[in-house]
Amino acid sequence: MNQKIIYTNSVGETVENLVAAMGSPKIFVITDRGAFVNALPLLRAQSPLIAEAVTVTIEQGDENKNIDSLGRIWKALGDSGATRSSVIVNVGGGVVTDIGGFAAATFKRGVRFINVPTTLLGAVDAAVGGKTGINFNGLKNEVGCFAEADTVIISTIFFNTLPQQQLLSGYAEMLKHGLLENSRAFSQLLGYSVVSPVFDSERLFDLLRNNVSIKKNIVDNDPTEHGLRRALNLGHTAGHAFESLAIEQHTPIPHGYAVARGLVVALVISRLRLGFPSDTLYQLAAYVKENYGPGHISCDDYPRLIELMSHDKKNPSPDSISFTLLHDVGDVETGCIIPVEEITAALDIYRDLMGLA
Ligand code: GLY
Repeated sequence: MNQKIIYTNSVGETVENLVAAMGSPKIFVITDRGAFVNALPLLRAQSPLIAEAVTVTIEQGDENKNIDSLGRIWKALGDSGATRSSVIVNVGGGVVTDIGGFAAATFKRGVRFINVPTTLLGAVDAAVGGKTGINFNGLKNEVGCFAEADTVIISTIFFNTLPQQQLLSGYAEMLKHGLLENSRAFSQLLGYSVVSPVFDSERLFDLLRNNVSIKKNIVDNDPTEHGLRRALNLGHTAGHAFESLAIEQHTPIPHGYAVARGLVVALVISRLRLGFPSDTLYQLAAYVKENYGPGHISCDDYPRLIELMSHDKKNPSPDSISFTLLHDVGDVETGCIIPVEEITAALDIYRDLMGLA
């Protein structure tokens, strides 16, 4: 895999230079309504190429990462004369880079694309690593392929207009990467607040640069997720269950809030099973409690949460629930099958740590 990542706040100029280096092909922009309003004007002001490009705008939200939006993108590309040598520039969060990447990977059997993530979550996760796709048949990311962007441009210029919740949501994935890397990276993240009082964007830029390279190193070692890349599932077994339960209860929560809480559950199980240090667990739990809150989890929710965990597509079989765990910060073990009683005990400890019990 050969994905280039450029860290810069001169995003428009960088797009211009990249396109010139590709031989000045025609470019097409794919975006969604949110990014169209909040991010595209900034980018258009920096780049005449972006300002003049045919732009396809899909509706905002994960529910629109679907076959209809994909069909609209393919049609717009075809109708406006995109060819195999064209270049697609995806401007938006994870929904846009996922569906835009998939559209690019499949249109005329594949055209080059550049990702310009405009959310923290997109920059730190979806835009990097080549996972593309759409939701289908009621299932998330059911159809897709691995296809890396030619270049990902990481910047913080779009973050000033992001709501605090969205910044925190992205920051949870950064905490995950810090836990997978080493104590220094993790402590640096705990020492920074993405929201208070106004985030320091220079500091965030530095943290982001280190953090994205953690993900890139993992992905470069295991691009198609047969081994090490599964480490990136840390916090997601319980996290996805929290996220799905919240949707079922008509009180949806941002993905990163679910992941932050799921990280605490994963570290509790890591403590019980692998001797993960308790002081680090308490530090994370305190940070998550303060910034993300505990969520509304009662003992009555346990059976449904465990059922949701057992449906996770990353489990080796329907009866086993698989977690990524840590012996210590930076010392990961993937594919740990955890019995239901131990998950129940961990949820009790989670509630205790988060002041819910
Ligand atoms: N979001 C996890 C991965 O890219 O593998």
